[in-house]
Amino acid sequence: MKKLKVAMVGGGGGGSFFGRVHWRALSLDGSRELVAGVLRSNPVAALESAKEWGIQGFPDVPSMIRAWKKGQVEIDYVVVATPNHAHFKAAKACIEAGLPVLCEKPMTLTVDESEKLVALVHAKKVPFVLAHTYTGHPMMMFAREMVRAGQVGQVRKIESWYSQGWLATALEKSGQQQASWRTDPKRTGISNCGGDIGTHAFVAATWVSGLSVKRVSARLNTFVKGRKLDDDFNVIAELSNGGTALITATQIAIGHKNDCGFRLYGTTGSLEWHQEAAEQLIVRRPDHDESYWIGSGAPITSAVVSSYLRAPAGHHEDFFEALGNLHTTMERLVRRQRREKHVPEAYPHPGVAEGLAGMKFVRAAVRSSKAKGAWTVV
Ligand SMILES: NC(=O)c1ccc[n+]([C@@H]2O[C@H](COP(=O)([O-])OP(=O)(O)OC[C@H]3O[C@@H](n4cnc5c(N)ncnc54)[C@H](O)[C@@H]3O)[C@@H](O)[C@H]2O)c1
Repeated sequence: MKKLKVAMVGGGGGGSFFGRVHWRALSLDGSRELVAGVLRSNPVAALESAKEWGIQGFPDVPSMIRAWKKGQVEIDYVVVATPNHAHFKAAKACIEAGLPVLCEKPMTLTVDESEKLVALVHAKKVPFVLAHTYTGHPMMMFAREMVRAGQVGQVRKIESWYSQGWLATALEKSGQQQASWRTDPKRTGISNCGGDIGTHAFVAATWVSGLSVKRVSARLNTFVKGRKLDDDFNVIAELSNGGTALITATQIAIGHKNDCGFRLYGTTGSLEWHQEAAEQLIVRRPDHDESYWIGSGAPITSAVVSSYLRAPAGHHEDFFEALGNLHTTMERLVRRQRREKHVPEAYPHPGVAEGLAGMKFVRAAVRSSKAKGAWTVV
């Protein structure tokens, strides 16, 4: 089996975060390797970064695509790991050229851009995966399978949350890279907290339950003085089956790191999952609780979920493996599209549809909050 060749947009520079996480995650299985990239916005710095990483560098995305078309670089898919404002341009150029894209969340800066991306992906029929890392955790996939199989009955209510404390003070004033662009409307979009981590909570609620959000009533707060956007995001949502979801995210919860998860209440049982203890899924029944551990055997997971496990039961698989699983999904989509033999089924991880839904959800929440919590159609 030939290794897939991966290119990356974003990720370069000493203080940058998630590009390097992707690099590690995509390398996990030995079946994919990072070979090229446009690692920074400044063309000279982009080439320097690529040299540092030991990959083929390009000053911008169009020149990388041109080189790929001329056969000067081999690329099977592209990871877009820039701040939000640069996702669309890079993803659009790649998809137009026929290159599959694994794109960071939130999918774009605006709903309009997301709509264009959805149309383009459908027209070009190229694989597209949205990097909601947590959906790569096998126990989150298992939770989704349980709901689909009716093992907790009909979903009545969901609570999903993402609590962080790192923006409880004006960190951006110190010039801290990740805080600076996340609090800047030009680079992050109409919502800071909602777009950045509220979308993770939204995906947890909708992707696991298979339901969509029809209307929202929201209250967004900006607790830290001088900020233009929210640092606290609270939404009550009406689900497509008439149920309710409480979807919250905050960056001012001091001491909370990446405290995200969900509780889902069905007519015959409840599910509970915490990202910071991601290898366990708790199922509550009227008279007892069940606790499932990652890798604890094929009988509890479907064949496709089991095919994403890497280690025997009792060995830890966590954050990098979860992101690695989204790369596995992309790899399977690419190889299956090429009709390679013996490629396992790709799990339906979030893609363009979920990306657009997340963007519309955030837009409705911002509008509702401005209208003092008025119910707003998504
Ligand atoms: N899925 C997750 O769990 C997760 C976690 C963290 C961040 N993210 C997402 O990843 C993206 C990056 O976030 P981050 O925290 O790594 O930010 P960062 O500031 O650490 O890194 C951004 C990188 O993009 C580069 N860049 C900026 N503009 C560019 C352009 N036009 N062309 C090429 N490169 C460019 C920067 O040089 C830098 O290397 C964001 O969209 C964020 O929401 C997702």
